[in-house]
Amino acid sequence: MLFFQVFPPVNFTLTVSALAQVLLHWKPNPNQEQKNYTIRYDVKILSPVPEEYDTKKTHSIRTVALHNGFSAHIRTLLLHNDLLMRSDWVKEKIPPPPGAPETSVTNLSCVTRITISSTVSLHCTWLPGQGAPEDTKYFLFYRYETYTEECQDYIKDKWNRNTECRFSVTQIDPEEVDNLVVIHINGSSKYAAIKPFQQLFNQNAIAKVNVPRNVTVFLEQNDLLATWEKPISPFPKECFEYEFYFFNLKSGNKQILKISSNDFRLRIDVTSRYSIQIRANHHICCMRGFWSDWSEVIYVGQNKLENPVAWILTVLCVFTCCTFLLVAIICKINQVWSKLFPPIPTPSNKFRDPFPNDYEADSSAWAGTGGLLLES
Ligand SMILES: *[C@@H]1O[C@H](CO)[C@@H](O)[C@H](O)[C@H]1NC(C)=O
Ligand SMILES: *[C@@H]1O[C@H](CO)[C@@H](O)[C@H](O)[C@H]1NC(C)=O
Ligand SMILES: *[C@@H]1O[C@H](CO)[C@@H](O)[C@H](O)[C@H]1NC(C)=O
Ligand SMILES: *[C@@H]1O[C@H](CO)[C@@H](O)[C@H](O)[C@H]1NC(C)=O
Repeated sequence: MLFFQVFPPVNFTLTVSALAQVLLHWKPNPNQEQKNYTIRYDVKILSPVPEEYDTKKTHSIRTVALHNGFSAHIRTLLLHNDLLMRSDWVKEKIPPPPGAPETSVTNLSCVTRITISSTVSLHCTWLPGQGAPEDTKYFLFYRYETYTEECQDYIKDKWNRNTECRFSVTQIDPEEVDNLVVIHINGSSKYAAIKPFQQLFNQNAIAKVNVPRNVTVFLEQNDLLATWEKPISPFPKECFEYEFYFFNLKSGNKQILKISSNDFRLRIDVTSRYSIQIRANHHICCMRGFWSDWSEVIYVGQNKLENPVAWILTVLCVFTCCTFLLVAIICKINQVWSKLFPPIPTPSNKFRDPFPNDYEADSSAWAGTGGLLLES
């Protein structure tokens, strides 16, 4: 039986080749004789995400968040007939970038949308780290394949810190499936080192579907009919499913129905008024994204006054009008009365007293039959 000595690879280096991307490369050990056996390399990534694989090449690329550093081991594998021999490990690591963990942004979330010109927009929000000084300024970068760009359109919180970013156009290919969008947010402050933060998003998982278009709803006898067009998207119509939100304003009943076609017919109570909204999501063609926003509210059915405030206002209005009318009539009667019976210059108590009393006591009766009494 032959004995081979197996030497570990040399010049093992780790290089950050792009945002959240590390290139591992090494050379064969020059002492290893090139004989009738196969040489391979065993790669073991320890952090941030443990992984082990072997390769014939002398380099390898990994895409992973690097804000907590990166460390890996490699060794030589020698295969001869049925014999497998291994060298010692060589180790290498990238230390975490400076800055306390609490200075990093938290709660990063991103969504993409397809625009009408078939490009993809990107919108991200985050929270400043709990331990970040007040003067911390954050910067966001995205990488898609080999393209990297810094945000130019930040939105600030009330302390003037960037907490939101918009790219109205990106290099994200709307027809690709399962590509990664890398987000990198670093920062600067006069008082502390700000630790960068990276997150990898699957492009399909953060795609927010657009709203269904041209929603029309009408009544046909006892049926409600609705039709709509698929949202702006490179995917065909068959790829979408919809949710149909249906609210009976009379009974207060709500219903959400799942529909996979672009129209819908439903028997309804025609004495009720309904409010209707529709939203869309990918269904079969790719990973489910975020549901679209709801379409604008559409009302159908009888246009009755359902709003209690409107009712109260109407009743109040009628009541006020009636009161004014009543007061006006009373005033008018009073005026005519004093003309018909002008005050007597030298009244005797005997005659004058009963009149005002009678008049006041009967004022309500007079109001109703005033005209009749005055004419007689
Ligand atoms: C390598 O293998 C070939 C055929 O398998 C053989 O002819 C040759 O002698 C071997 N060489 C060495 C150095 O073992
Ligand atoms: C941020 O994320 C944490 C943990 O995921 C969660 O508990 C918290 O409610 C989030 N804060 C906000 C404001 O969304
Ligand atoms: C933030 O990251 C970008 C991209 O790696 C780099 O060019 C820039 O210098 C960094 N800024 C700070 C303040 O660390
Ligand atoms: C929506 O309706 C408008 C006007 O009726 C029309 O121009 C447009 O093409 C429709 N959109 C779709 C997607 O059918």
